[in-house]
Amino acid sequence: MRGVILAGGLGTRLDPLTRVTNKHLLPVYNKPMIYYPIQTLVDAGITDIMLVTGGNSAGDFLRLLGNGADFGLKHINYTYQKGEGGIAAALSLAEHFAEEDKIVVILGDNIVERNIKGAVERFETQAEGARILIKEVRDPERFGVVELAGDAIVGIEEKPARPKSPYIVTGIYMYDRQVFEIIKTLRPSGRGELEITDVNNYYIKKNRMKYEILEGWWTDAGTFESLYRASALVAEQGT
Ligand code: G1P
Repeated sequence: MRGVILAGGLGTRLDPLTRVTNKHLLPVYNKPMIYYPIQTLVDAGITDIMLVTGGNSAGDFLRLLGNGADFGLKHINYTYQKGEGGIAAALSLAEHFAEEDKIVVILGDNIVERNIKGAVERFETQAEGARILIKEVRDPERFGVVELAGDAIVGIEEKPARPKSPYIVTGIYMYDRQVFEIIKTLRPSGRGELEITDVNNYYIKKNRMKYEILEGWWTDAGTFESLYRASALVAEQGT
């Protein structure tokens, strides 16, 4: 299986820090943010990855990560997303890289405590479709919120004013090859982006979406509050 790390975007919620660098190069405790999603993939046994970046500091990723050997990567490919097209638009840039393989996608600002290897292995044996990792949080309105009926996911709402559950979609997604065809059918949302939530809702409607509850702590790091929390969680973990 191959991995895709999405590290584009303008990081406007972290202005003025992101005026001078890419959000994913900012420190989370003692390392650049991008180290964490790379490590998450490597720990799950994924050593062939594509990094999608963007903005003004794209060259700094190459300077920092090189050929990826220091992280135990076999291959790292880089590509560039122009502007703010959304997560699904960024993912579409990985179509050629993915070839016929299934992919594990992780947002560059998502930091997890535990190994996701088990989930990745379960997806490997899944015949088709997608698999997402969800998590109960205190502020679901900031995320894609899962609507559950019993044990089944019936839909996801992106940043709803009135969340239908405390469970949110983390930025760790697993897709079969069909994802690229689905992205081609999407229309931009109200905020002018191709939404990953629309991709996931497509799989849900077709009954091809599986989910698991992510164990251990999880956080994004795209706002000052969550960036601060991410640093505290990593520091407490003693890594
Ligand atoms: C994105 C997704 C959202 C998801 C979140 C996880 O939000 O749109 O569905 O819950 O990542 O980090 P963003 O961080 O782009 O606002």
